[in-house]
Amino acid sequence: MRMSLLRSASQHLRRRRDYSSASASPERKVAILGAAGGIGQPLALLMKLNPLVSSLSLYDIAATPGVAADVSHINTRALVKGFVGDDQLGEALEGADLVIIPAGVPRKPGMTRDDLFKINAGIVKGLCTAIARHCPNALVNMISNPVNSTVPIAAEVFKKAGTYDEKKLFGVTTLDVVRAKTFYAGKANVPVTGGECSCCWWPCWNHYPATVLTGYSCK
Ligand SMILES: NC(=O)c1ccc[n+]([C@@H]2O[C@H](COP(=O)([O-])OP(=O)(O)OC[C@H]3O[C@@H](n4cnc5c(N)ncnc54)[C@H](O)[C@@H]3O)[C@@H](O)[C@H]2O)c1
Repeated sequence: MRMSLLRSASQHLRRRRDYSSASASPERKVAILGAAGGIGQPLALLMKLNPLVSSLSLYDIAATPGVAADVSHINTRALVKGFVGDDQLGEALEGADLVIIPAGVPRKPGMTRDDLFKINAGIVKGLCTAIARHCPNALVNMISNPVNSTVPIAAEVFKKAGTYDEKKLFGVTTLDVVRAKTFYAGKANVPVTGGECSCCWWPCWNHYPATVLTGYSCK
């Protein structure tokens, strides 16, 4: 009895250390476009830590070889490859199941959302054209701002290419929802929905016990 317990514990430990045990999960390729940026790099790290990812493609117009080398040193399942520049975009996307797009510029002081739109719209359009060509069935997560404009751009590109599937295109608004929870509803822990511009997120007060609302402004 004791021997069999020891054997099973040692097998369990061996399994935990052996990342190839994750290969029982299906093969999943994730591509990050804009992987060398402020959002792209920590995102690459998170994807590398995810045991469901078997292949991680890091694409940017600059600096991806170094980022890919660093991320690849983490001893988890995903095989990491870096791709840089237009010529390598197709290879980065080929066979991807999930494409995450934080490519573009963030808003700088003095920039309006319209200024941001003018730059990022072109970037997103180009990247989505390549997605339609190289991995038309992939799920696409749009992070590049303004998300409520870049998602419709992606949708139009996919419609034109005949690859549009509304169930496969997502705008990422997690940051705004989390911010809203922290700044506005943090103390009350009210659920928040929506996101991606100051007037779009919405605290759901009706999901919160009325008695605890005393003292909170619901304007
Ligand atoms: N949706 C959200 O919740 C959310 C949260 C944070 C940031 N963002 C947005 O994400 C975007 C990126 O933010 P950041 O802080 O990482 O900016 P960043 O400038 O640090 O990084 C952007 C990266 O995109 C790359 N890039 C530019 N053009 C490209 C192209 N054609 N193909 C591939 N890569 C390209 C740049 O080289 C750079 O590495 C911004 O638009 C920002 O507003 C969205």
